[in-house]
Amino acid sequence: MKIRTGNPVRGENFFVRKHLIDKIWERIESGYNLLLVAPRRVGKTSLMFYLMDNPKENYYFIFINVESVTTENEFYRRLLSNLVSSEFVKFIYKSENFIKEHLPIIKKIGPDGVTFDTKDNYNFHEAYETILKRLNLKDKKLIILLDEFSEATESIRIDYSDRDAIHFLHTNREIRLSNKINNVQFIYSGSIGLENIVKKINATHIIDDIIPLKIEPLRKEEAFELISLLLETVNFNLSVSSINYILEKIKWLIPFYIQLILQSLKDLSKEKNKNTIDEKMIDEAFSESIENKNQFELWHTRLRKSLKKNEYNFAKELLNLISEKETIESNEIRDIAVKNEVKEEYNDIVGSLVYDGYINNNNEIKTYSFNSPILRMWWWKYVAN
Ligand SMILES: Nc1ncnc2c1ncn2[C@@H]1O[C@H](COP(=O)(O)OP(=O)(O)O)[C@@H](O)[C@H]1O
Ligand SMILES: [Mg+2]
Repeated sequence: MKIRTGNPVRGENFFVRKHLIDKIWERIESGYNLLLVAPRRVGKTSLMFYLMDNPKENYYFIFINVESVTTENEFYRRLLSNLVSSEFVKFIYKSENFIKEHLPIIKKIGPDGVTFDTKDNYNFHEAYETILKRLNLKDKKLIILLDEFSEATESIRIDYSDRDAIHFLHTNREIRLSNKINNVQFIYSGSIGLENIVKKINATHIIDDIIPLKIEPLRKEEAFELISLLLETVNFNLSVSSINYILEKIKWLIPFYIQLILQSLKDLSKEKNKNTIDEKMIDEAFSESIENKNQFELWHTRLRKSLKKNEYNFAKELLNLISEKETIESNEIRDIAVKNEVKEEYNDIVGSLVYDGYINNNNEIKTYSFNSPILRMWWWKYVAN
């Protein structure tokens, strides 16, 4: 298994968490639609790829990243285009006749996508629904993976209105629940909490048919195993006590941070021409791992984008303080909220910071700290100072 930091991992670079994969398959086989819940970089996209690359018999997957979608119509145009050009549809219909018959608006299905022959106000939602209804899957099952769905919903809400976002969620629900669409299931994911978004716009009921499935950080034994596998492809070794030291320091054991630290160690060991690693080098690897300002910039951008001015100021001041003092008490949080005039909404903002993976109060209900000391160091260095 090679060290990979950044893009989703695939194939032999994917660390398989069997109990998690089994849990997902159990839900899929029970016919549920799922929402994979985890902050960014926990491994949602990689997990979707794994499901797609390792299907059970008679299951077919289609993957679409909808992060950049900003309108409902664009969303369905993308889904439709992806569906009709998929290997799966080609495979079950063997020819383009099916498409020509049901979707005369399609001019061409080429290697770089589908060309539509439509007027501006064409309703892609209806077209998509029609095709799903006419797919005659028999004993086959189609699973549509919609990556970054919450981001798309949030963009529609911010760029247009709450009403547009609600409409968007409704049409998705209709498709999921239509009794004329058979053997099609959906797995959604999002790095920001769909549950928080729908709560804000009073739309919780619209997604109550989707089963949320939380992707937890690795257990210590799993993290240990991942490190051992990654060590097989590098030129240095780590003692058991060094591995324990690393895991203590990473604290929030998501695969990404493990990869990041191992990459730093790999670079350091090359640079110093040493293949035994001591604690001093490990400390150095942690400092090196945040050297790149862009590494976590998305975390920051996302707050600026999704929060109103005074909400953002509150969140930033809060995170600045925690990054400096390591922990903060809930009464101090309230003071910051009062100061930034967000007394009414601050509990929800803190809730989404917890949900999005910045902070937690797991140890002590009234005390918040960063999940990840690495993100804390980054925030302190590049945002707070
Ligand atoms: N199962 C895994 N095995 C190994 N590394 C992983 C795994 N899942 C995630 N990672 C690490 O985390 C990074 C981000 O994974 P990704 O799937 O893009 O997360 P997300 O979609 O939740 O943002 C990868 O580049 C890799 O370093
Ligand atoms: Mg992703």
